[in-house]
Amino acid sequence: MNTEDQKKIAAEKATESVKSGMVVGLGTGSTVYYALLRLGDRVREGLDIVGIPTSDGTERIAVAQQIPLTTLAAHPTIDLTIDGADEVDRHLNLIKGGGAALVREKIIANASKKILIVVDESKVSRVLGTNFPLPIEIARFGWEATQTAVNQICSSSTLRLALAHDRDQPLITDNGNYILDCHFDGIPAPDQVELQLNNIPGVVENGIFVNRADKIIVGTPSGIRYMEGRNA
Ligand code: 5RP
Repeated sequence: MNTEDQKKIAAEKATESVKSGMVVGLGTGSTVYYALLRLGDRVREGLDIVGIPTSDGTERIAVAQQIPLTTLAAHPTIDLTIDGADEVDRHLNLIKGGGAALVREKIIANASKKILIVVDESKVSRVLGTNFPLPIEIARFGWEATQTAVNQICSSSTLRLALAHDRDQPLITDNGNYILDCHFDGIPAPDQVELQLNNIPGVVENGIFVNRADKIIVGTPSGIRYMEGRNA
C-alpha cells in the first residue's frame, strides 16, 4: 500500500466512529480530505451530523460535500474531531500545522470530547521534532523580534512562504498571521516547550499538541494499526 492508500484507509476508518446526532470537528489536510469525502457520502445517504471546520480550505471541501456546518458559538462542545498530524510520538503527542491551520485546530481540539488522529506510517516518530519542523503562528507586527525570541528556544526558524501565485511572499494564515517553521534536534519535553513558546509576545499559538489525542489511526503498508491514549 502506498502513502496515499495508507492515508485513505486511516481516514475512512475514523469516519466509522461518526454517528447521527454528533457535532463533528473537521480537521485539515490531505489525510482528513479522505474522511471528508466519506462523510459527504454518508450525509447524502442520511447521516445527520453538523461539522465545525478547522480551516477555510476544509470549509470549502465540506460545503462541496454537502456536510452541514455550524459554529463553536452555536455548539461549544464537539462530540468527535477527526484531524491529521505531521508527527506523532508514542505518547500520542503531536506536531500539527503543516497545513497552517494549527490555531483553529487547537481551539477545536480543546472543545472536543474525543479526538481521532489519522496518519500514514511516515508520521510516527520516536521523539517529536526530529522529522518535521514545528509550525508556530505569529502576529505580523514585529515578527522579526518574535522570531529572534523563538530562536532562543529552537535551533533555527524560517518564515513560511506562500505557494503558487504568491510565491516569495509570506504565507498569511486564515487568521491573518504568519507562520514560522522551527527546527529542533528533537523535542523531548513537548509540554514544556509548548508553554515556553506560547509565553513569547507575538506568538499566537504553536503546533505542539500534548495529551489531546485519544487514538491515532495509522495507515501502514500492511493495514491499520492503533495507538491509544486518553479516553480510548
Ligand atoms: C494542518 C495540519 C494537518 O493535519 C497536518 O499538516 C497533516 O496534514 P496531511 O494529512 O496533509 O499530511 O496540522 O494544519
